[in-house]
Amino acid sequence: MINVQTTSTTIESAEEDDKPPGKEQYLKLKTFGHINKLEPYVNKDWWKFLFNMNYLKTDADVVEDQSITQKEVIFIIDIMKKFSIVKESNILDLCCGQGRHLIELFNLGFKKLTGVDYSKDLLNVAIKRSKNKNIRYLQSDVRKIDKLNSNTYDFIQMLGNSWGYFNTIDDNIKALSEVHRLLKNNGIFLLDVTNGSHISKTFSKSSWEWIDKYTLVCRERELSHDHKKLISREIIIDLKTKNVVDQLYSEFLFSIDEIISILISNNFKILDTIIYDIDGEHVDSGMMSSRYVIVCQKV
Ligand SMILES: C[S@@+](CC[C@H](N)C(=O)[O-])C[C@H]1O[C@@H](n2cnc3c(N)ncnc32)[C@H](O)[C@@H]1O
Repeated sequence: MINVQTTSTTIESAEEDDKPPGKEQYLKLKTFGHINKLEPYVNKDWWKFLFNMNYLKTDADVVEDQSITQKEVIFIIDIMKKFSIVKESNILDLCCGQGRHLIELFNLGFKKLTGVDYSKDLLNVAIKRSKNKNIRYLQSDVRKIDKLNSNTYDFIQMLGNSWGYFNTIDDNIKALSEVHRLLKNNGIFLLDVTNGSHISKTFSKSSWEWIDKYTLVCRERELSHDHKKLISREIIIDLKTKNVVDQLYSEFLFSIDEIISILISNNFKILDTIIYDIDGEHVDSGMMSSRYVIVCQKV
């Protein structure tokens, strides 16, 4: 202590400072503090809570960069052309987020567009940005979309690594069964998902990234106990509001062979597989850095 005026208050706080912070202090900061193993801290339904305005801010360098979205949509349209998907085709974007791909498709003349997402926050952004555009948005869990009829869509896309979030393989398969139900016979499904083999070898165990002058995101990552998932933690610190968000999530790291085998056993025929690497300068693009694009058909 520099302050030699030893009032009882000063002495008390000096003693407090030397103590490791207790649970109460962490609760005030809304953080778990140091964790040895991340996995036990993951809520199995984490995807219900994480896709909010913070996500749009922390992942903005990828998911809010229009040049990236435009490039992805041009890539998707090239694939659509190969399989006779035209501007009048019925197109469904599952896990559409803030609608970035749908809005771009609309601007390029596609007419029958529907987006489904669980996040009300992201859907509200999508609806606002789609004003005067004829795009239908629905809020639902992708495993069971009651409001959509079977055998309806010519083309279904699930983009930006939105598959593999559920805690069990069976639940992830339920999402694919729903895709199968919604597709017309011979309809096309495009799955854009993280390249699990690459990420499991290259993920960074920790990083920090300044999102803007006042927002810092610190990330920690580790493999799950069975090495099948990547467990990630993000501590978002807002220096202006002094708000701290500490959140964890877990995603399956599938190899291309595993995904192909899951798709085939769920009645899809594989038409094409492509590795899609993101380019440009990103401090930490995480699971989005390298992806598989798998094009398949309902059989
Ligand atoms: C990484 S974001 C990708 C969003 C968008 N496809 C893109 O590329 O920008 C994942 C999206 O999946 C949505 N999502 C996650 N689990 C879901 C579920 N069970 N049902 C519906 N949407 C879900 C999230 O709300 C989020 O919008």
